[in-house]
Amino acid sequence: MNEIKRIIETSKHTEEDRTENSLRPQNLNDFIGQKKLKDNLKIFIEASKKRQEPLDHCLFYAPPGLGKTTLSHIIAKEMGCNLKMTSGPILEKVGDLAAILTNLSEGDIFFIDEIHRMNYLVEESLYPVMEDFKLDIMIGQGPSAKTIKLSVPRFTLVGATTRAGLLSTPLRDRFGIIGHLTFYDIKELVQIVNRSAITMNIAIDEKATQEIARRSRGTPRIVNRLLKRVRDFAEVRDGKITYTIAKEALNALEVDSFGLDKIDRLILTVIIEKFNGGPVGIDTISSAISEEPDTITDIYEPYLIKSGFIAKTPRGRVVTEIGYKHIGIQKKSKNFL
Ligand SMILES: Nc1ncnc2c1ncn2[C@@H]1O[C@H](COP(=O)(O)OP(=O)(O)OP(=O)(O)O)[C@@H](O)[C@H]1O
Ligand SMILES: [Mg+2]
Repeated sequence: MNEIKRIIETSKHTEEDRTENSLRPQNLNDFIGQKKLKDNLKIFIEASKKRQEPLDHCLFYAPPGLGKTTLSHIIAKEMGCNLKMTSGPILEKVGDLAAILTNLSEGDIFFIDEIHRMNYLVEESLYPVMEDFKLDIMIGQGPSAKTIKLSVPRFTLVGATTRAGLLSTPLRDRFGIIGHLTFYDIKELVQIVNRSAITMNIAIDEKATQEIARRSRGTPRIVNRLLKRVRDFAEVRDGKITYTIAKEALNALEVDSFGLDKIDRLILTVIIEKFNGGPVGIDTISSAISEEPDTITDIYEPYLIKSGFIAKTPRGRVVTEIGYKHIGIQKKSKNFL
């Protein structure tokens, strides 16, 4: 199933790297939604600038496409310092970490994406760095091996993860600022459609904007992707994006009125038809639809749960009344008398 590229896939398609950067809001005022987190960050940033100290280490967790990387860019901009980016799986050895840390300047932002996927030796060596800006390095091997303490410039670590639950407690506890980004509401998504339409120089009417927002599953990355695809349809029809064109395009892309696509509907249908609506474990769903359990929990499930189509219970996932209704199947009574 992986080879089918989902239009509403929340994770990034590779060709999107370039356009994502051009659509990223550059400062906190342009960053739409997440009001509470944004207000807090404004204060923390201002306070640390006043004290002329680096910002406390920040951890952002959220499903893919909600703005974690964007926020790290914004923090660097607002603090007026450089951003160095890497990701958990790339930092294989303590030496990889040392190479980056020793090249940082005072106040820099060091961004580690997918921080939950860091090697545990690297993770452990990060603890003293986060606390005292000291990195312990082993020199030599065997009985003559020595540990030396290397001082690193005072910097801000920004970690991003889609799976806060997989982060170890000692690591999580070393972040001073922890931000949870939540799915965006329709009003915010409409603002994002409008903002991106202006940046991309696209003419779009209000009803079409609403329709794209409604089908973007609360995720800015999907807003931008759907907008681009709908623009293709409009350009072929030689004009502005109207409601009719938006609807036609989104239907052709098989994104339904709630933003669910074929795979989401398959998950709901399989739980209903094969497992009588659940409860059913994630591994069982995974083998029934030939999709990795992690992909289901990271990418598909958060929005299905948020929209109330699926509920998580201690015994597994169940399809809710709304889920049955959306798929158009009558719920069978479980009370056999
Ligand atoms: N609050 C926002 N306002 C406007 N646009 C946004 C906002 N948040 C994200 N975006 C847009 O969505 C795109 C994806 O966001 P971003 O790359 O920051 O997501 P992410 O959380 O890092 O995802 P992943 O977990 O896949 O790395 C950005 O390029 C940006 O254009
Ligand atoms: Mg990211």
